[in-house]
Amino acid sequence: MRMVDLISRKRDGLEHTPEEIDFIVRGIVEGSIPDYQLAAWCMAVYFQGMTPREARDMAVKMAATGDQVDLSPLPGVKIDKHSTGGVGDKTSLVVAPLVAAAGIPVCKMSGRGLGHTGGTIDKLESIPGFRTELSLSELFAQVRKAGVGLVGQTGNLVPADKQLYALRDVTGTVASIPLIATSIMSKKLAGGADGFVLDVKVGDGAFLKTKAEAEKLGELMVAIGKNAGRKTVAVLSAMDQPLGKAIGNALEVREALATLRGEGPADLEELSLALGAQMLVLAGAEEEAAEAKAKLKALITSGEGLRTFGRWIEGQGGDPRIVDDPQLLPLAPSVVGVKSLRAGYVTSWATEELGLLSMRLGAGRARKEDPIDHRVGLVIEKKIGDWVEAGEEIAKVYARSEAEAASGVAAVLAAVQLAPTPPPKKPLVIGYII
Ligand code: URA
Repeated sequence: MRMVDLISRKRDGLEHTPEEIDFIVRGIVEGSIPDYQLAAWCMAVYFQGMTPREARDMAVKMAATGDQVDLSPLPGVKIDKHSTGGVGDKTSLVVAPLVAAAGIPVCKMSGRGLGHTGGTIDKLESIPGFRTELSLSELFAQVRKAGVGLVGQTGNLVPADKQLYALRDVTGTVASIPLIATSIMSKKLAGGADGFVLDVKVGDGAFLKTKAEAEKLGELMVAIGKNAGRKTVAVLSAMDQPLGKAIGNALEVREALATLRGEGPADLEELSLALGAQMLVLAGAEEEAAEAKAKLKALITSGEGLRTFGRWIEGQGGDPRIVDDPQLLPLAPSVVGVKSLRAGYVTSWATEELGLLSMRLGAGRARKEDPIDHRVGLVIEKKIGDWVEAGEEIAKVYARSEAEAASGVAAVLAAVQLAPTPPPKKPLVIGYII
């Protein structure tokens, strides 16, 4: 087989055979296909796409290039949750303990944040003492004891994806829907869960800005999961403003704790219940999503979700006192309120810009190797549709210094739009792909 022929076939819109996909994936990890040919092939995929069968073969082959976790020693049906990435998305911190409190074991690998989006591992590491690097046997012991355990991705999870992503990053091919779908699903498959609930974000703060693109990605990821023998659903959710109010690691942990106490922002609770309910349905614990949501809501009301969070933290070495006393979480030295210059209804937040601002304040990374500061970030006080008086506080900036806080204040003011009439209400959960 010659790579040049495979590039030509894809350029002409033909479907690769399973053997051709195998040749390409092996060529990536063995280094036998030069970068210029892989780059040309990625561009051909960008324009011609992939069939669900090709995408499934690619994701399965990629998953097999590194460590593949076997979760079968753990009892029950294991369901993983994945978000395509957004701003202020701390749903995993709410959903994982709630689903565990409902009796479904949660054993999960998560990533770190990059660019304008945050990562669950960074958020958890803002809890003093919390360890995200556990051996597999430590992770299993944690899940058996507390019902929930979460670790960072192992170094050797899907090496083919690491290599291909680095190439896509410099060849204008990251935005290819089949390449995104195979990249994400290869890592999910290698993580070993029996099923997946995929939160596909749409809007300014998401990777994909339009509903049509997000639907295509969701449909392809669901097809890959199902064709690989795993139960899979996707939830399309709006990311045209930060989810909840907090952006930044320790600030997001506080907000997740508030949500588990029943005192969190309505949108964060709504999406967490929607995702958690799908996990319970896939695990076979409930037949209907509405009943599953009611069950999870009851676990918030009873405090069992919060107590499970405490057991989770303690089991992974974190300070469980933060559950009752979130003041023990690290806090930025400079906290400055942002006062609105005018009165009006909030009609939009430049969400990607807020994510980038939080990154510049130190909460995220421009490059993978950058260090982060768990203390800093933003809290948006006013959401889309809220009325604001002139001089009223619309946000708080949590910064390392007064100078950084001042530049944060200016950036927040530039990111908000106000108008005399309220904007039309838009749903948070846009749809399901089942
Ligand atoms: N996230 C991934 O893991 N891969 C992509 O290609 C895009 C987003």
